[in-house]
Amino acid sequence: MGKKLLWIVIAVLGVACGEIAYLSLKPPKVAAPKEIKVELTPERVARGKYLVDAVGGCVDCHSIVDETKFAAPSVPGGYLKGRVMAKELGLPGEFSAANLTPDPETGIGKWSDGQVIRAIREGIGHDNRVLFPFMPYTEYKSMSDADVESIVAYLRSIPAARNSLPPSKIAFPVGLFIKTVPEPVAKVAEPNHGNAVEYGKYLTTIAGCKSCHTPVDRGAPVPGREFAGGHEFGAGAMKAVSYNLTPDNSTGLGTWTEEQFLKKFHDYKEYAEKGPPPVTAENWTVMPWLGYSQLERDDLKAIFAYLKTVPAISNAVETRPGAKKDKTKGHL
Ligand code: HEC
Ligand code: HEC
Repeated sequence: MGKKLLWIVIAVLGVACGEIAYLSLKPPKVAAPKEIKVELTPERVARGKYLVDAVGGCVDCHSIVDETKFAAPSVPGGYLKGRVMAKELGLPGEFSAANLTPDPETGIGKWSDGQVIRAIREGIGHDNRVLFPFMPYTEYKSMSDADVESIVAYLRSIPAARNSLPPSKIAFPVGLFIKTVPEPVAKVAEPNHGNAVEYGKYLTTIAGCKSCHTPVDRGAPVPGREFAGGHEFGAGAMKAVSYNLTPDNSTGLGTWTEEQFLKKFHDYKEYAEKGPPPVTAENWTVMPWLGYSQLERDDLKAIFAYLKTVPAISNAVETRPGAKKDKTKGHL
């Protein structure tokens, strides 16, 4: 190794070590959980169910699912019972998505409402641990107070199910780097449901559309390419690439009508109700279509209205590169 190169290596390692030392000492921003007792009104429980099942995707990560079926539906009796995240996801460590049923020993039964709310929006677990941001609290931080309280009301209303999970183990030094991610959230006002673009933006944020539909480079979203699609997902031989959701006329949603957009989602209702078909290279996906198929018409209209306002970016995406025939082209 040349002397110059050696010095560069030492300098780089020095910075990395310095950073690690700094982060080890720096405590995460942790606020005390709110002192709150959420009232279990029927309206709240219903709204919470909609957010958990259709909008927020909680059910997809926090249930025992059947990966051999399209869009991995929950198995009977596995709903919100929690699970160990699959190795194929390539996460830095071993992660258990918590049992969200009210079981006092293995679920959220003994956690206060404030603790559950803080975990969802601020990424601090019931035990004051920094949660790995694969749990999308960086998006849920935009969730209104009423919505996050509705989620708590709903989770308290479902039957308790025992399922003990191993604690999450995060690989070094990732645990240090994520310490800066959680942020305390004070109050989040209700978005204006009467303004389609504003409410659509809200739903798009808490549904996580942007994080999957923005390309990533070394784990970080590429600036200026928001919603342009091209984020690649895979598991073994299966591959899917997210679509361009910007209003570009030839490669994005520009030429889609509102009806086509709604139909795309509601076509999956049949699968959600009767059970989806087996996974193939033609239909494999990570997009939670079964939950989203339950999105109400007005909510999908709002999401579509908002997506029409984001800057158009030209980016042609082949959504199923491994498939013989890309069935998703069916929309045009
Ligand atoms: C993409 C997958 C994913 C989605 C979607 C998701 N979670 Fe999580 N969640 C996780 C994982 C993984 C963890 C554990 C993280 C860790 O241990 O570092 C977690 C942790 C939690 C915790 C904290 C448990 C504790 O120890 O205190 C709560 C509460 C929670 N999630 C609720 C929700 C709710 C409610 C939703 C929907 C609004 C949701 N999650 C959506 C993956 C997900
Ligand atoms: C977990 C990642 C993920 C999330 C969250 C997600 N998508 Fe997708 N989406 C994908 C992938 C991957 C594809 C391509 C494969 C497929 O069509 O299922 C896709 C495809 C699509 C398509 C194109 C379907 C076609 O006909 O080609 C639309 C439209 C879409 N997503 C809209 C959305 C909207 C709106 C949201 C938020 C409500 C969203 N997606 C959230 C990953 C995601």
